[in-house]
Amino acid sequence: MEHRLGIIGAGGIAREVHVPVLRTFSDVKIVAVADADRAAAERLAGVHGIPYVMTDYRELLARSDVDVVLISTPNHLHAEMAVAALEAGKHVLLEKPMATCAAEAERIAAKARECGRILMVGMNNRFRPDAQQLKRYLEGGAFGDVYHVRTGWLRRAGIPSWSRWFTDKARAGGGVLLDIGVHMLDLALWLLGNPRVVLVTGKTFQTFTRPEARQTRMWAPAASDGAYDVEDFAVAFLHLETGATLTLEVSWAANLARDVQFVHLFGTGAGAVLEEIDFSDRRFTVYTERFGCLVDESPRVKWEPWGDRVAMWRHFLDCVKTGQPPSAAVEEAVQVQRILDAIYTASETGQPVALR
Ligand SMILES: NC(=O)c1ccc[n+]([C@@H]2O[C@H](COP(=O)([O-])OP(=O)(O)OC[C@H]3O[C@@H](n4cnc5c(N)ncnc54)[C@H](O)[C@@H]3O)[C@@H](O)[C@H]2O)c1
Repeated sequence: MEHRLGIIGAGGIAREVHVPVLRTFSDVKIVAVADADRAAAERLAGVHGIPYVMTDYRELLARSDVDVVLISTPNHLHAEMAVAALEAGKHVLLEKPMATCAAEAERIAAKARECGRILMVGMNNRFRPDAQQLKRYLEGGAFGDVYHVRTGWLRRAGIPSWSRWFTDKARAGGGVLLDIGVHMLDLALWLLGNPRVVLVTGKTFQTFTRPEARQTRMWAPAASDGAYDVEDFAVAFLHLETGATLTLEVSWAANLARDVQFVHLFGTGAGAVLEEIDFSDRRFTVYTERFGCLVDESPRVKWEPWGDRVAMWRHFLDCVKTGQPPSAAVEEAVQVQRILDAIYTASETGQPVALR
């Protein structure tokens, strides 16, 4: 079966990651690309030999030779575009975050159920080989009861500035929490088997994403001269229905040594650290006790360039082919969005938020 793909949003992630990955798939034909910026669409089409280019995404959705759509546009367009794509009968791979708020996410999920099409949010970190192996350990029962998880993604000087919309709440929905917090929260909950989250507290900070801080070294190179009304740091504390707890810490900019992404699991039988420092130095270690000895175990991980994205696309396209629901379920993405909403609410009100 050949998958005939349309791309909506020919920006950074489509250009640098999705299209190069998809071009390695022998069963994918990229038919069309739509971008409000015609030049961006034409550039992408020119480099990769994509036959059709348009500025109106609805024109792409009207094409009968497109079955599957990638939506990689600014966050505030996700809900409108995902709903329209589902209504047009397309299967959808939607970039993260699913939407800018839970109400929009719920609207997308309801439409996916109604239309009977596959919609998967692109939570690529679940498909990392170290995460997949850690999941196998968990499912094998190696950790006993996991009673606490620490997760986060801390960047020292990484405020996205290649596109103006990232720091504009109206278009991004939020700052670092929606941009990279969503990845780590999703990853940690997925590892735990997606338990229900019952109580959320948290706080967000806007320190460096202010116009007057633009000239500091906390910004990634290049300029963003749009709006600046989103957080650059967030911390949250979650109670899970299992009795376990989860903490999340994220920054786009902070005075710290190095960039780090992490998940630390604390279990009665073992613990684990999954860590990536400065996008290169990776660690996956399991800590336990055997025969009266404290043991550190490091499973071997096979890393391939863009291996997580290749695995994510393969899984999604296999689901399209077989009709099986994706392992990254829509309902899980909706719960993540509800938790993110709750963190913002808790920060504004200073009160914990109970989730039903
Ligand atoms: N999974 C990841 O690791 C990852 C990484 C980066 C970005 N993302 C997500 O991907 C999405 C896009 O991010 P990006 O970095 O590529 O942003 P970007 O700004 O580089 O690209 C967005 C593109 O959408 C186009 N666009 C805007 N309005 C449009 C419209 N009405 N119709 C059609 N096209 C329109 C823009 O012209 C631009 O080319 C975001 O949701 C972001 O959160 C995910």
